[in-house]
Amino acid sequence: MSLFRIVYVSDAIGVAADSLLALIDIIGVSDRNNRRDHLTGVMMRCDGRFFQAIEGRRVDLDRLMGRLRADRRHADMRILSDRRITERLFPAWAMAQIDAPPALKRLLVCAPDDPQIEARVERLLTDVSRAMTAA
Ligand SMILES: Cc1cc2nc3c(=O)[nH]c(=O)nc-3n(C[C@H](O)[C@H](O)[C@H](O)COP(=O)(O)O)c2cc1C
Repeated sequence: MSLFRIVYVSDAIGVAADSLLALIDIIGVSDRNNRRDHLTGVMMRCDGRFFQAIEGRRVDLDRLMGRLRADRRHADMRILSDRRITERLFPAWAMAQIDAPPALKRLLVCAPDDPQIEARVERLLTDVSRAMTAA
């Protein structure tokens, strides 16, 4: 069974940009749906933007991307990476939510025009995954 990982950044809209309740609401629904759909990943909110990595089967990812594109709590989704993967970086997390590390802030300053963006995204996610596994 082929697995894929999609990583995107988007602009948070309205209260979604800074409200804790709004974030909890998103995480709660994500956790429930992603368990059902065998999707895993991590999400960070950083300076009014969402950064999310989601991994799973193509059909489940595409269905979620459709819902995400229609969600008015964010806009202007930019896909930073969409690739086939051999294994999940976040197998134990239906949707983890963590504070943005400084490396994400640096990455978002230049995204998505940086030609190295996909490699930088992969490095960041590998570091995040290692830190989460060690914790
Ligand atoms: C930044 C952001 C990330 C989201 N991530 C997910 C996700 O990983 N999984 C999910 O099911 N919904 C996610 N959502 C919510 C979806 O856009 C949508 O509201 C939800 O899937 C609808 O679920 P329901 O049909 O069960 O109500 C996210 C929304 C936002 C704004």
